[in-house]
Amino acid sequence: MRSNGYDLRGPSALEPPSLLGLETSCDETAAAVLSLEGRLLSSVVASQHDVHARFGGVVPELASRKHLEHIAGVTEDAVAGAGVGWRAVRAVAVTRGPGLAGALVVGVSFGKALAYALDVPCVGVHHLEGHIASAWLDDPDFATPAVALVVSGGHTHLYLVPQRGEYALLGKTLDDAAGEAFDKGARMLGLSYPGGPALDRLAQSGDPSVVRFPRPYLHRGALDFSFSGLKTALLYCVRDRTRGAAAVDPAHVAAGYQEAIVDVLVETSFRAVRRYGVSGLAVVGGVGANSRLRAVLRARADREGVRLTLPRVELCTDNAAMVAAAGWWAYRRGRWSSRDMDARPDLAMVAAAGSGAGT
Ligand code: KG4
Ligand code: ZN
Repeated sequence: MRSNGYDLRGPSALEPPSLLGLETSCDETAAAVLSLEGRLLSSVVASQHDVHARFGGVVPELASRKHLEHIAGVTEDAVAGAGVGWRAVRAVAVTRGPGLAGALVVGVSFGKALAYALDVPCVGVHHLEGHIASAWLDDPDFATPAVALVVSGGHTHLYLVPQRGEYALLGKTLDDAAGEAFDKGARMLGLSYPGGPALDRLAQSGDPSVVRFPRPYLHRGALDFSFSGLKTALLYCVRDRTRGAAAVDPAHVAAGYQEAIVDVLVETSFRAVRRYGVSGLAVVGGVGANSRLRAVLRARADREGVRLTLPRVELCTDNAAMVAAAGWWAYRRGRWSSRDMDARPDLAMVAAAGSGAGT
């Protein structure tokens, strides 16, 4: 008998005990169910891209309201899709931060209320810890110590992962994130939002050697990144084109620009792998969906004998399966959040032996 979607009765003996993950840090409302054995049973994502497209970027106020509208339905779909009932849900994991304040509050409030109603623990998850945990979803044998590159719209961070749940920051972007470089570059080229996938598509018909862009920071041997100089180079290139100085096909421009970002990400990641003497590299986060990055990473990993873990594209961009995976690890170690857990737009990643999750 279901009147409100939260029927807490009903048998659960045949259903695998599970953990529900929730994600609302930016413009994707997502829910996923992971069995307590670590098997992904369902993953549902309601994207708000259409809502924000006409503004050319995410409008925080709108994002919060859309999360509020969709979160219950998305959660019900994830639970139904997993073939489990509410009684099988033994814990709720939710992204606590970083992200947009109002957007996070929707997920955290909903997750806490649901955990309260089900009388199960709630686990707050750091969004980047979620991205890193996505490595294990498609590759349960992903071995540590390893290097993880988290490359998304807000972050370009390189971590040493001594073991699951522990992270040491090796380097990060000093200005824009790689996803931002894709999005801003796409806007300069007149492409629609979200820019990263649009630039990826345009670049597929271009030749990256026609226009050469700088590879900022690469020559310094550092593990940090910088993309603002590259963005400026694109601005000049586009300005010259519109002034008729060089009528270069925009596909070539996109391909050259993308190649510079990819080169910087790949070189720096493999540099970290060599420097720290590890054999595994995981590349996670939205930019990990980029087709050229995936191809170059695979070729390079084959050549150098590095064990590469690249989650499938749907697990690179924001989703709740990754939140469930990170929450599952914390849950099994008893790292549950307290009842007064808040949402933290600037949540820091705990460096070692922790999850940014505890309150
Ligand atoms: O991880 P994500 O979904 O959200 C954040 O945590 O930021 O990453 C979103 C970013 C955006 O900047 C988007 O343009 C970029 O990932 N992205 C891509 C591709 N798909 C998503 N960038 C380049 N090529 C893609 N195919
Ligand atoms: Zn993300």
